[in-house]
Amino acid sequence: MPKKPTTIAIFGVTGDLARRKLLPALYSNFIKGRLPEPLHIVGVGRREWTDATLIAHTWQALRDHAGTVDAADWSRFQAALSYCKVNLPQPATYARLQRDLDELDGGCGNRLYYLSIAPAFYEDVVVNLGRLGMAAEPAGWRRIVIEKPFGYDLGTAQALNRDLHAVFDESQIYRIDHYLGKETAQNILFMRFANTIFEPIWNRSHISNVQVTVAETVDVGTRAGYYDEAGVARDMLQNHMLQLLSLIAMEPPAAFDAAALRNEKVKVLQAARPVKLADTVRGQYAGYRDADGVAAASNTPTFAALRLFIDNWRWKDIPFYLRSGKALRQKTTQVNIQFKRPPNSLFELTESAEYSRNMLSLCIQPDEGIHLTIEAKIPDKSIARSVDMELHYKQAFRVDNLPDAYERLILDAINGDAQLFIRSDEIESAWRIIDPIIAGWERDPQAPPMQVYDVGSWGPAAAEELLARDQHLWRVSCLHAEGA
Ligand code: BG6
Repeated sequence: MPKKPTTIAIFGVTGDLARRKLLPALYSNFIKGRLPEPLHIVGVGRREWTDATLIAHTWQALRDHAGTVDAADWSRFQAALSYCKVNLPQPATYARLQRDLDELDGGCGNRLYYLSIAPAFYEDVVVNLGRLGMAAEPAGWRRIVIEKPFGYDLGTAQALNRDLHAVFDESQIYRIDHYLGKETAQNILFMRFANTIFEPIWNRSHISNVQVTVAETVDVGTRAGYYDEAGVARDMLQNHMLQLLSLIAMEPPAAFDAAALRNEKVKVLQAARPVKLADTVRGQYAGYRDADGVAAASNTPTFAALRLFIDNWRWKDIPFYLRSGKALRQKTTQVNIQFKRPPNSLFELTESAEYSRNMLSLCIQPDEGIHLTIEAKIPDKSIARSVDMELHYKQAFRVDNLPDAYERLILDAINGDAQLFIRSDEIESAWRIIDPIIAGWERDPQAPPMQVYDVGSWGPAAAEELLARDQHLWRVSCLHAEGA
């Protein structure tokens, strides 16, 4: 029996994400022999492109973002590419897409629709695909991948879920959060559940506090149009940071599959205590309002920090501190788990008592790895000092580069593995946490005021004070010495 063709239709193929991430990720999977055959990649866009334009565009994208491109590989890959012009809001133009897809797979292939377009068009695309019955699965699967932002708040996320569910079954929907595709984010689960030494102490009896830092050096750059509407809470907290948090805090799933895993993740989000405004900090880097496309009196935060509690048996009253911002001192994503101090202090320490907590640092990026800070005796002295035991991914596994998150996620979507994608109830639970914070910042006169912070700093001083209130301190591990 001939193999079923698989077609990947990338809506928004002319855009930035497709050029930087999606086309290189597809190519990388292709040359590793991981994509099904026969394979068709249909670029969908509004521009008057031809197949040749798409091929030239893809060649350039690979040259810029995929390292070296082998001539023989490229020749096979480009044969899979074709272009289809679709005006997203216009129902009539979808007939052309349907005809193209039918011609390619004879009407009996598998199809992945990848929406890498402005969210304003999500509904149009879904409704129009539905109108032509393009989500129906008479002779092959149909799946849809949706990029973030998924909604602007809880209400719009629910509306988008309703639109999607009117056409696609939840099992056909793959909501992407690229942080879940990062090797080290996945490793949180391996570290917790493929070892026996961590889980017994992974709770309120042994852990003092958990800190998640997602710091970026880049500023708003050319994305002001989007960013000034979104701000850090919608751009980073609602998705990437709460996803990291749920991986750290979730109970062990009964199986390593999409349903079991996502059931546990959503329980964490549902157990989050409403965040008090007094437990939040918002900041804007100096000069943000002067950036092209940013409103002159913009009140959009580019930095946020907050203290959050998870009201369940494991975590009750243990603070989770989250912070993220742009134009900060270093690009780093890290989770620092600080353990409680020994009940009785026998040894003299050289450093402040705060440093004597053991700390497990999950270095998500850029220098991927795990550090464990322990107290050790300084040779030839009778005092202790904190030292790091370090695992660096690249050395340990002898790899120069870890695969890009999109490589893994696209492959999972093609293989029907939804573990690393966000379910509708998860996305809504995350908005339930973030919505009141944003509303409070915008409308509550008691909300902490916007703090301006210096470019190249670690954010406003108020973020330090947030932890100081609890006698805690933001920790930065995972960096080379000069950055700490
Ligand atoms: C995106 C945000 O989701 O993640 C960007 O929209 C942010 O503002 C980016 O820069 C960070 O991703 P990464 O993989 O570079 O940490």
